[in-house]
Amino acid sequence: MNQNEMKKAVAEAALDYVEAGTIIGVGTGSTANLFIDALADIKHKIDGTVASSVASAKRLESHGIEVFELNMVNEISVYIDGADETTKYLQLIKGGGGALTREKIVAAASRKFVCIADESKLVDILGAFPLPIEVIPMARSYVARELVKLGGEPVLREGFTTDNGNVILDIHGLQIMEPTKLEAQLNNIAGVVTNGLFAIRPADVLLLGTSEGVKTLA
Ligand code: 5RP
Repeated sequence: MNQNEMKKAVAEAALDYVEAGTIIGVGTGSTANLFIDALADIKHKIDGTVASSVASAKRLESHGIEVFELNMVNEISVYIDGADETTKYLQLIKGGGGALTREKIVAAASRKFVCIADESKLVDILGAFPLPIEVIPMARSYVARELVKLGGEPVLREGFTTDNGNVILDIHGLQIMEPTKLEAQLNNIAGVVTNGLFAIRPADVLLLGTSEGVKTLA
């Protein structure tokens, strides 16, 4: 199985977590896109979706799947999304596609978070993938200086604006030994909107695509 086939396999496996008659949270990225395409086959079974990005909302709508504003929805049964890195404890780095803030919000508002990823995303220590930080534009330089003090090398994601009108700093050179501590620390820097660590609220289930098939970690 190549990487794309592994992504497709986990996207299809995630359909088992879709509860009939509920609202589903939908993530962003190439793996989430494959999930959206698979969801189209069972769209009549669900009440609708909440999307974590404008791009995912458009893809859902292109399949005729209803997309609600989060404020219009009381409960999301499950949030399904990919990741840039995951540990076996289901702590993640996300935000490679720049949608981390809305992803964290929809994940927080969901009863269950199912992460779908191919085996290349499984790591022992988070941080080889540069950690994305969404920052209010006027705070960019200040936040970058604070990140250097924490031992990282922040790089501005050139030419990119988030769906919320902000910029992304990708922090290189981190070896994240205490993900929950760093997640809280980064959230405390004035001007940081969100960081891409999903450790305080990790995934509940990881569907990992491997050459031997889909493995479930929980
Ligand atoms: C987007 C994300 C994605 O989940 C992450 O980048 C993984 O993407 P892909 O499924 O394309 O590998 O966090 O902000």
